[in-house]
Amino acid sequence: MGINILSTGCYVPEQRLKNDDFKKFIDTSDEWIRTRTGIMERPMAGWEPCWYMGAKAAEQAVQRAGISRDDIGLIISCTITSDFLTPSMASVIQREINAPNAAAFDLNAACSGFVYALDTARRFLETDDSLKYVLVVANEALSRFLDFKDRTTSILFGDGAAAVIVERSDKLYSSHLASDGTGAKYLCARNLSPAPEIAVETDFNDGFPEKPPHQLVHDGKEVYKFATKALPKSFELAAAKIGISSDDIDWFIPHQANVRIIETAAKKFGVSMDRFIITLDHFGNTSSASIPLALNEGIEKCLIKRGQKLALIGFGAGLTYGGIILEY
Ligand code: UT7
Repeated sequence: MGINILSTGCYVPEQRLKNDDFKKFIDTSDEWIRTRTGIMERPMAGWEPCWYMGAKAAEQAVQRAGISRDDIGLIISCTITSDFLTPSMASVIQREINAPNAAAFDLNAACSGFVYALDTARRFLETDDSLKYVLVVANEALSRFLDFKDRTTSILFGDGAAAVIVERSDKLYSSHLASDGTGAKYLCARNLSPAPEIAVETDFNDGFPEKPPHQLVHDGKEVYKFATKALPKSFELAAAKIGISSDDIDWFIPHQANVRIIETAAKKFGVSMDRFIITLDHFGNTSSASIPLALNEGIEKCLIKRGQKLALIGFGAGLTYGGIILEY
């Protein structure tokens, strides 16, 4: 069983941080950021809470789908930057868009979150006949978890939200989700509540500088190495299940972390960069929102058309990774 993407929606804050703006806080340059990452500017949430961005994206997706809100049976938000420990972002979004008959929960798979959530949506649709529509929302405000004095992380991320509404269909679908927990320490932000001492003393801390608990730390080189392998591997594992190759894919929509990671994958697939939707130049890395934001943009620009085959590929903290191949 596959899924039909009925509609997409997005919300991107108006406030933008250009590469040159970082010169006010750190020793960097537009040239370094552009050539090492492909990023030129990124949206930054100002007054907008994470739930607000998610609700705006969800509202647009609901309106575009033209469905009754009563028929949304499940809402999944895949954020890692929730405004609250509880309630879930999905429950707050449910309240905002008035979808009274939906179950709602959040799912954390970091930058792979959208791929995990969309695949979870499909599995719910397959096992519950009473479920008509699922709303998947990726809303992220990474800027609230950054150290703007750390030039190795602060320049990478942007804020924004995107949403999709899906229903069951017999269209082509394949997926593969995976994780390598041994790499968990390479990309993390601690919870604000203090960890017990025993946990603080474990090997998990190796290689990380001291930070206020909630700020994002990473080993950029390790994450880069992982990403260049995880991106092709995610696609290949999903493609092998249905016996198709990269030649059969109309559009690759990878997580938007670094254009060099995507270029490496394109070379490995033997396909031109023209078949990759790239939005990181203007959005930066928006974590789980990056794939649905790119999907939404590809559809809005009429690049992605009905009947085409898409490969959605995520990778991120965990270290999680995963691919979905589907017909739009
Ligand atoms: O969703 C997943 C999230 N994480 C990622 O995607 C991170 C993946 N990793 C990367 O994208 C890259 O590793 C980075 C963009 C983070 C770094 O690029 P790199 O080519 O691996 O650079 P590097 O870490 O080897 O640093 C080279 C130099 C260093 O200076 P020295 O030691 O050679 O003097 C860094 O201190 O560049 C310096 N540097 C900077 N210079 C100017 C690091 N960040 C900056 C900066 N501006 N923003």
